Amino acid sequence: MAGLFITFEGIEGTGKSTQARLLAQALKKKGYRVVLTREPGGTRLADRIRHLLLDRCHQGMSPLTELFLYEASRVVHVEETVRPALQRGAIVLCDRFTDATIAYQGYGRGLSLSLLKTLNQKATKNLQPDLTILLDCPPIQGLKRARGRNRRTLTCQDRFERESLLFHRRVRQGYLKLMRQNKKRFIKINALLPIKKTHQQILKKVEGYLS
Ligand code: TMP
Repeated sequence: MAGLFITFEGIEGTGKSTQARLLAQALKKKGYRVVLTREPGGTRLADRIRHLLLDRCHQGMSPLTELFLYEASRVVHVEETVRPALQRGAIVLCDRFTDATIAYQGYGRGLSLSLLKTLNQKATKNLQPDLTILLDCPPIQGLKRARGRNRRTLTCQDRFERESLLFHRRVRQGYLKLMRQNKKRFIKINALLPIKKTHQQILKKVEGYLS
């Protein structure tokens, strides 16, 4: 496959979406073809599944139901958005992907990691990111930022933002473990730096990779 697949990961409130957007703008300016997408979401059907997953009306959803909804949205997203864009030679920037399932449903919810790996492989037909940017910060600060953003945009907390601090600590530890296991693919960035500085660091790393 000709394109380049870059994913953004991290706990809540680390600024992934902002950084993905800034990177997309910078790469487009340099003449690259870029597709910016996210999980869950990225197609009409996957966006509808996203709505079900984040809606706090479904706070009691079982971990397995949650898992299958994420994987269902991933199948359609990879088939309709990610793979075609990579085949056209684009740089695909994806806000969360399979690592989020390992971190949240695995380390966060306690589902079997081997089950998650099998389902991730099935859902993506073994598609793996070339590069994963992990925006990292302590959960207490991430959640504070997520709450501030919700207040500014008059948005309610979603199902995950309502989870306990302990849950988010497990998720962060999961991400850090994934990073240790995939040193070549992961780039860890301190999410507490100012937005512009974080962006410059990410751009430098990605440019290094592209050259
Ligand atoms: P966000 O894209 O706004 O961060 O919201 C997506 C939420 O879904 C976030 O809390 C992380 C969660 N998530 C999972 O639990 N598993 C997954 O596989 C993915 C992609 C996201």
